Amino acid sequence: MSENPALYTEYQREAEAIALRAGEYLRGVFGKVTAREKKPGDLVTDADLGSQDLIAEGLGRAFPDHAILGEERGLIAEAGNPFRWIVDPIDGTMNFAHGFPLWCVSIGLEHEGELVAGVILDPLQRRLWSASKNAGTFVDGERVHVSTATTLSSSLITTGIPADFGTGSDGERQVGLFRRFSTGTHSVRRTGSSALNLAFVAMGACEVFYSTHVNAWDVAAGVVLVREAGGIVTGLHGEPYLVDAPSILASNSLVHTEALARARD
Ligand code: IPD
Ligand code: CA
Ligand code: CA
Repeated sequence: MSENPALYTEYQREAEAIALRAGEYLRGVFGKVTAREKKPGDLVTDADLGSQDLIAEGLGRAFPDHAILGEERGLIAEAGNPFRWIVDPIDGTMNFAHGFPLWCVSIGLEHEGELVAGVILDPLQRRLWSASKNAGTFVDGERVHVSTATTLSSSLITTGIPADFGTGSDGERQVGLFRRFSTGTHSVRRTGSSALNLAFVAMGACEVFYSTHVNAWDVAAGVVLVREAGGIVTGLHGEPYLVDAPSILASNSLVHTEALARARD
């Protein structure tokens, strides 16, 4: 099947409606759920599962042939269809479980291996980011662009540090990255939501997002938001970003070369 930008936008709109329904549900249960540990430092709540099921049900009804990859239920539909939805029902579960108001719903769409649409919803702020290929990035219907900062020294950085920060096999590398990005910049924010970090790059609220140990569902939607807002997304070594890649560097494009050098130092 060849690419079809108008179709991607139509699918994006369907995903927006589904994200808003999941957001309504999540707002209702926020502060009322208890969390369990999947593994140390990695929580799940009934709300993650409830949101996942609502989204899968909505996507399944709208697109019965499409595959759906969701964080909490794995690959829950598969067919010989080139479309795959990549869903994080709550990105920022640690925040959600603590009642810390920084988390979101993230729904990305891949077509023939390429990310072509993305929707991120912050249900508490009632803020909706959306984008589809060649159609731009919008926040609540208003077109947005990445920031115009040209140097890292005037850049705000965000990151998604993994739960085993500093202790895993690449612990030293993670610490080194954090130290380098913290020095001579406007600081590094660890928000607890990689999807929101990308949404913030897309709307020009920060310049760079970097992370090791990302999953496709953490970033799929956000990658489309950043690209369509004029930014760049690569791996941490400057390699093309591929869905399922373990590391990511997203920026407003103007500071990308400098950020890559900082990641390498
Ligand atoms: C987490 C967030 C966070 C990142 C973690 C992820 P979750 O996703 O994206 O920013 O640092 O590695 O696991 O578990 O809240 O969906
Ligand atoms: Ca996530
Ligand atoms: Ca999640």
